[in-house]
Amino acid sequence: MAEFFEEIADWQTPPEYKYFLGGKWVTSNSGQTNEIISPVDRTVLGRVQVVTKWEIDSAIETAKKAQKEWEGVSVDKRGKILHLAADWIREHQVYLTILLIKEIGKTTAEAKDEVLRTADLIDYFAEAAREMRGETLDADSFPGYEKGKLAIVGRVPLGVILAIAPFNYPINLSASKIAPALVLGNSVIFKPPTQGAICGLHLTEIFRRAGVPDGILSTVTGSGEEIGDYLVTHPGIDIISFTGSSKVGVAVAKKAGMIPLLFECGGNNPAIVLTDADLNLSALEIVKGAFSYSGQRCTAVKYVLGFSTTIDKLIPKLLKAAAEQVKMGDPRIETTKLVGPVINCEAAEEIENRIIKAKVEGGKILLGGKRKGLYIEPTIIDNARPQMEIVKIETFGPVLSLVRVNNMEEAIEIVNSSTFGLQASVFTKDEGTGIALAKKINVGTVQINSKPQRGPDHFPFLGIKGSGVGVQGVRYTLEAMTRPKPLVLNKPE
Ligand code: G3H
Repeated sequence: MAEFFEEIADWQTPPEYKYFLGGKWVTSNSGQTNEIISPVDRTVLGRVQVVTKWEIDSAIETAKKAQKEWEGVSVDKRGKILHLAADWIREHQVYLTILLIKEIGKTTAEAKDEVLRTADLIDYFAEAAREMRGETLDADSFPGYEKGKLAIVGRVPLGVILAIAPFNYPINLSASKIAPALVLGNSVIFKPPTQGAICGLHLTEIFRRAGVPDGILSTVTGSGEEIGDYLVTHPGIDIISFTGSSKVGVAVAKKAGMIPLLFECGGNNPAIVLTDADLNLSALEIVKGAFSYSGQRCTAVKYVLGFSTTIDKLIPKLLKAAAEQVKMGDPRIETTKLVGPVINCEAAEEIENRIIKAKVEGGKILLGGKRKGLYIEPTIIDNARPQMEIVKIETFGPVLSLVRVNNMEEAIEIVNSSTFGLQASVFTKDEGTGIALAKKINVGTVQINSKPQRGPDHFPFLGIKGSGVGVQGVRYTLEAMTRPKPLVLNKPE
């Protein structure tokens, strides 16, 4: 335990973490806790509270009241709190990195990257918030109106933001919701992922120590099944910012009612390799895209589309890149090559079953394919067909399928008929061809000659269809967490 975090838990072995309500660390009246088990070595890392409905009501009521005053605080002051939070993250980077490795099984390099990226992101939000501005509009450009009206369009916070973060970036994707909400004068109810809750509670303490006033940020823990429905249907919530699976995202969207939604869900992203592509580059990017953080990224590459001749030439390069870049192993060992465990037993079993099913349906395992506990060997499956589950549904693990197509129209049809639409990659030496193909692909973002990825974090990041709703990326997130408020002056002279 670092002294800085002493208030957030009873530091017995294993620690019992509190939850954060109205500026205080408290134990829930439910008397119930969830055990957090490390995917790395199956040790119990701690217990987190299962909060009650009454406690959620209380957090939301407090957030509503406190938000009124917070809205009146200057952007400069709110931004300084964010900068301090970013500094505290850097100050505790080693501690947070170790926590991430233990709680979600990220490798050392991936965990370090998440921590530092978060500090940079929070700083960037603080600065970008200064640039948010409104506009004035004259009435006379619309037919039938003279100069008798002037709209002064400012932006105001939405109120109480429900931030629901996923296990795969429990620090970064939590901060990507909390920081923009706070800097623009919203209050936040933060629901960390169950696996990742310990990281989320530490992040909460960092924001508290940085000066976020009491009541503006409350962090409620409990599993999605236990408290999810109550939170997302609560009348006190003004916007939901959610990152998680498409299945849960679609279910939440149906329940949420008429409030703004900012959702990033599953990806199931394809990489299309054209005949003229640089195959060394393609193979390297695809391998990194498929296997980093054990394929548990919404932006991971899940399947490759190409002509048979291209796939035949690509296979040895994929195998070579995989041999050089990835090695299954304990993430506590410090090497950039490692692929660690997947998050829990249920996930490991699901991935293993998908691989077995793909084999039964005619898929040919070129690499890996086996499971040892929570560790799944980085796996490449050839002869996959679009109807197979391994291609149709996102498999949140280190599995890459190769799909041979006869023409590019077929490839486009496979991508466009998918229920997912986050990103796609196109590999070609001819940027013109890449752009022409990208225009026909119906996804949020097309990457030309790179693996799919969210960053840099100020780029717009969005999914369509089952992959999300709304746009994120620094300025876009700031816009999504505010609304225009026109004041119309009549007869201004
Ligand atoms: O898992 C979803 C994340 O937004 C992916 O972010 O592309 O930086 O890994 P990333």
